[in-house]
Amino acid sequence: MTEKKRILTGDRPTGLLHLGHYVGSLKNRIALQDSYECYFIIADLHTLTTKPSKEEILQVRENVRTMVIDYLACGIDPKKSTIYLQSAIPAVYEMNLIFEMLISLNRLIGLPSLKEMARNAHLDNDNMPFGLIGYPILQTADILMPKAHLVPVGKDNEAHIELARDIARRFNQFYGDVFPLPEVLLSQTPTLVGTDGKGKMSKSAGNTIFLADDAKSVEKKVKGMFTDPNRIRADMPGTVEGNPVFIYHTLFNCRQDEIEDLKKRYREGRVGDVEVKEKLIIAINEFLDPIREKRKIFEEDRGLVEEIIYEGTEKMHDISQATIKEMRSAMGLMGTWNKISRVARDRKKKLQG
Ligand code: TRP
Repeated sequence: MTEKKRILTGDRPTGLLHLGHYVGSLKNRIALQDSYECYFIIADLHTLTTKPSKEEILQVRENVRTMVIDYLACGIDPKKSTIYLQSAIPAVYEMNLIFEMLISLNRLIGLPSLKEMARNAHLDNDNMPFGLIGYPILQTADILMPKAHLVPVGKDNEAHIELARDIARRFNQFYGDVFPLPEVLLSQTPTLVGTDGKGKMSKSAGNTIFLADDAKSVEKKVKGMFTDPNRIRADMPGTVEGNPVFIYHTLFNCRQDEIEDLKKRYREGRVGDVEVKEKLIIAINEFLDPIREKRKIFEEDRGLVEEIIYEGTEKMHDISQATIKEMRSAMGLMGTWNKISRVARDRKKKLQG
């Protein structure tokens, strides 16, 4: 019998994943699959907090498949891990409501992450949806559903996991020990800089290299990459530290000696950006090639991705039923209804017989 600890994490289905997602989270998840029981949530309900319209829901439907193909192509293995669709688990809506009673509004409105999400969605205090304020509570329901011990997330989500801990602690204090207190597992890699060298790689900034990019797109994007802005000629000494091209080399080029050689010559003004970039194009394409191969399998076998999500969701459904039952029973909510139905049934029986 497996006595592995449980992990839960996941993403809102925003569509294509990029190299930033890979180094920031996917790589880590793939490594954790063997030592933990992993659950990966496709958090489509969370996207409703800023994108509630029908058109947006239909877009998210497309994104689910795209994102899960990226997961699978990178090496998330459905034989080891459970991938499931949040909106298909009725218990999450119910748990969310119960957890709403165990946290103060003040604790939520101070969270910088929510303010940032509101800003990105062009929402101000006057039209901030109630559900967006409750975002971390819904996340708590996700985490506590399979009684996860560990939650691997980025820094931006750290406060949400602390909040989930507080809610779990509160629940246990009120109703008895039901939940382990989940702990955050912070990603060790700092956020990946975008190809423009300006900020982190993100779709909205248009500075991404997607995991699904073909060799030609990688070439084009790397050729246009930002390097050392102070170096105007190849025979001038350049700066390697913080230079996006070298950051990518360090992360994706498996030829350590090649990187060292390039760095040395760059610092001495003996190599041009062109050569550094040409070698980076090769390295990134080599990194993406096996992912491309695997992607083909999932794109060509229509229905396979859906089957994987389906099976994962069925599994989580069973787990959620057990958890919600335990919660209701610990809270005594089950008892209220049980008593009413017992008395009502007895009366009916008496009148009939
Ligand atoms: N909040 C995560 C994001 O930034 C997505 C998410 C939803 C999540 N539920 C979760 C992450 C539970 C970890 C655990 O997209």
